[in-house]
Amino acid sequence: MALDRFGRDIHYLRISLTDRCNLRCIYCMPEDMKFRPRVELMQDAELLTLMRLFTALGFHKFRLTGGEPTVRANIVEVVRGIAQTPGVRSLSMTTNGVLLKQLARPLKAAGLQRVNVSIDSLDPEKFKRLTRWGSLEDVWDGLLEAERVGLRPLKLNAVVVRGYNEADVVDLAALTRDHPWQMRFIEMMPFGEVAGFQQAQVVTEHEMRERIEAALGPLESVNGGQLDGEARLFRLRAGQGDVGFISSVSEPFCASCTRARLTADGKLRMCLLREYEVDLLTPLRAGASQDELKGLIEQAVYRKPWGHGLAQNVIPMNRVMSEIGG
Ligand code: 5AD
Ligand code: SF4
Repeated sequence: MALDRFGRDIHYLRISLTDRCNLRCIYCMPEDMKFRPRVELMQDAELLTLMRLFTALGFHKFRLTGGEPTVRANIVEVVRGIAQTPGVRSLSMTTNGVLLKQLARPLKAAGLQRVNVSIDSLDPEKFKRLTRWGSLEDVWDGLLEAERVGLRPLKLNAVVVRGYNEADVVDLAALTRDHPWQMRFIEMMPFGEVAGFQQAQVVTEHEMRERIEAALGPLESVNGGQLDGEARLFRLRAGQGDVGFISSVSEPFCASCTRARLTADGKLRMCLLREYEVDLLTPLRAGASQDELKGLIEQAVYRKPWGHGLAQNVIPMNRVMSEIGG
């Protein structure tokens, strides 16, 4: 078991498989985003070596992220290797869904258990405006295919941006009347150069809830208002699924955080919104022993920051979201 100095049991690792993406969401990256040279990224074998160290230290819950994880070369085999690592109990992926129509079935067969699909609007034009390059139809087909092949329960994520999709929370929430899905609304978080825009356009959970309740009726709290992971869950009357809010900005959940992040270039990052990182890939390539690498992971876990500093206006400048993986 890996404990940090505040007694939190850190057992959830989010692995960014690539910093690349086939979309260019306005809240995430500029259209001319520069990606890292591939030599700087973990190779498949390096990633699997690190996986075994994490499971040996008690990590058992894993999520694959990006950029967009499905654009990584050989994604199905990478997923198979991760799923077969002894000690992996939970394996899911956060994806933009663009490639799921083709990949859902092989990914499921390779051992992936669930997916979270990003969908910020049900209006094709607004969807395009938010993602710059995306087609709503591809994502919709992809998420239906994911559900069909058993990547369930299906969770959907929407980042809400003022001036773009704050009104769309109503239609998105209404999906949970007819589908047993969890629709989660995410408060936009600030990173690096684009932090100014992100902070100016943030829509709080409070405002989203008001909009949804005004149109669809009351949201009743599920499991007594307890957080489910990072989301606070509600249900519409006669809803089959849940409506969730991930309110990192207005109501931080740092006290109950159990996660760490491995970036595509092999750095262990202990808080999404803090710059602190420990490089694992460089020592691995330099021939460090398994015990040395485990020691580095344990030290990083121990030094996990207590929480983010958004309230004090401390914003991470060393990476943007797509380089960390959300
Ligand atoms: N704030 C909050 N969420 C973000 N995402 C990307 N950028 C941001 C941001 N600035 C989300 C994506 C996806 C997940 C990978 O992270 O929409 O759901
Ligand atoms: Fe790609 Fe996800 Fe960033 Fe959109 S939010 S550009 S889908 S990594």
